[in-house]
Amino acid sequence: MTDGPASNARDSVCLLQLTDPHLFSDGQGALAGVSTSATWHSVLSEVQRRGPRPDAVLVTGDLVHDHRESTYRRLMDDLQVFDAPVYVLPGNHDDGSLMASVFADHDTIRWVGHVVLGEWLVVMLDSTIAGSPGGHLSSDELDRLARTLRDHAERPTLVALHHHPVDVGSAWIDAIGVDNGQDLMELLERHPQARIVLWGHVHQEVDQRLGALRMLATPSTCIQFLPGARNFTLDEIAPGWRYLRLQADGGVETWVERLERLPTGLDLSLRGY
Ligand SMILES: [Fe+2]
Repeated sequence: MTDGPASNARDSVCLLQLTDPHLFSDGQGALAGVSTSATWHSVLSEVQRRGPRPDAVLVTGDLVHDHRESTYRRLMDDLQVFDAPVYVLPGNHDDGSLMASVFADHDTIRWVGHVVLGEWLVVMLDSTIAGSPGGHLSSDELDRLARTLRDHAERPTLVALHHHPVDVGSAWIDAIGVDNGQDLMELLERHPQARIVLWGHVHQEVDQRLGALRMLATPSTCIQFLPGARNFTLDEIAPGWRYLRLQADGGVETWVERLERLPTGLDLSLRGY
């Protein structure tokens, strides 16, 4: 566990979520005709220009698309623009053991199990299955979550992971969510301190309420998937990111922002990636 920078009592903590950058080591790689490096840099500079300045940044997986150490190093260099700690977790396009070694001893960019931000507990789960686009939460991960919730029972809690633990209403995407998402949801139901579940992977905005839980997904920093589509379909909408103001009383204010323009070169005819 690590204490975040804003662990003193405050009214709120501002968390920035970036997700699914899908970077390539040479910076030239593209998905659906879109340079993932170009959109990533556009998002970073727009976030800096518009503000607000985050107290912490969370990058929820699919950091790279080519499993190369040099790509992770490039991402780390880029993330130095934030004067705030950055937390990362793996997605299906990541290499977990490579990530573990690359992020092992960095001061401000880390892959950790959980962190306390202000009054909040943020638990980061690994939902990846090696070699599969789908997700699963191992009993070890679920046990760790239960233990961490017990150890911080007084703290409002955000649980972050890469894959969606509930269906988002798109058949091809729902086939590659967490295959035991119900186990997570039942565990969280038994812990009323849990307020938010936050993920990436679906490359689209989701904001639903499920009982006491706010269920949130966030656009990718590169290409977007069309909500509600039965088969793989790209969406004609700009890359984005999400802010969360985690309030000391357990409340949350959250919103998605996007670049003003569609990425250059976007090829909407792509039928898979
Ligand atoms: Fe992704």
